[in-house]
Amino acid sequence: MSVSLSGRSFLKLLDFTPDEIRYLLDLSADLKAKKRAHEPHRYLEGRNVALVFEKTSTRTRCAFEVGAADLGMHAVYLDPSASQIGKKESIADTARVLGRMFDGIEYRGFGQERVEELAAYAGVPVWNGLTTEFHPTQMLADVLTMEEEFGRGGMAGRKVTFMGDAGNNVGNSLMVVCAKLGIDFCACGPAEQMPAAELVEACREVAAGTGSTITLTADVDEGARGASVIYTDIWVSMGESADLWGERIRLLSPYQVNDELMSRAADDAIFMHCLPSFHDRKTTIGEEVYQKFGLAELEVTDEVFEGARSRVFEEAENRLHSIKAVMLATLQ
Ligand code: CP
Ligand code: NVA
Repeated sequence: MSVSLSGRSFLKLLDFTPDEIRYLLDLSADLKAKKRAHEPHRYLEGRNVALVFEKTSTRTRCAFEVGAADLGMHAVYLDPSASQIGKKESIADTARVLGRMFDGIEYRGFGQERVEELAAYAGVPVWNGLTTEFHPTQMLADVLTMEEEFGRGGMAGRKVTFMGDAGNNVGNSLMVVCAKLGIDFCACGPAEQMPAAELVEACREVAAGTGSTITLTADVDEGARGASVIYTDIWVSMGESADLWGERIRLLSPYQVNDELMSRAADDAIFMHCLPSFHDRKTTIGEEVYQKFGLAELEVTDEVFEGARSRVFEEAENRLHSIKAVMLATLQ
């Protein structure tokens, strides 16, 4: 089946069919092979892209900038304080200005409705680099990483478990991509931090069509048992108040990914994390949390993070190849 995503925006994975997601995964793998072989792939020579970040970033920004350069494009970065967006100029006006100058626009920010509005007015493809609700480019990198471990298409019928703050942008998106690709998904955490009921319902409908399951549980043993992938993310996301740390530590500590939890997963299970991660005291926030609450490791222990099952840096590298695939597929 031939797939074309030319001219499309990439706002959330619910908008894409399993075949379209498959196409993006295969293109990511192809671009990765080309990069590794130093084979030139400047397919978008002379194009320009805008990278609008209303929240900070290491991986996503670098993946878009390096990816744009690899594809022969020029990227302009607008940082959280440097643009007029939302403060002096509406999203709709910004979209129409940027759409006149650029061939594509990446946006990282707050509510999903902001990136949707940007796309509605820009007249060029808009790519979601993370919103409060979703982080779709992360998912392509994640499934690519899983398939490097378990084979192309090898995740179907396997179980992926998100431990902890399952209703955040990464937990939500992981549930969507698993449903789309026929992967059994388990959200394991306290009831307070689960994905919204409406999204769970939508994913269950998709999963019914792809032959997979969506499970929500507060039971760590049920969540970990038999999982091929144990995934977690930080307990307080960007844009959330630092005052939430105490409450989140209370709610989420039972879901910390440690060796004992990993031992309950499948024998060949891997550990994944979108990063950044609080697995030690080597960050300002990590140290502050330690001073206040006495916890040196949060969502994952250093042992698991640095251990043989961890694939977190493969996953980080794959952000580059998958973001290139999104830009190429939508701009070519
Ligand atoms: N995983 C991820 O999106 O990382 P950044 O916040 O560094 O972009
Ligand atoms: N849930 C995290 C993901 C960071 C990539 C956040 O939104 O801060």
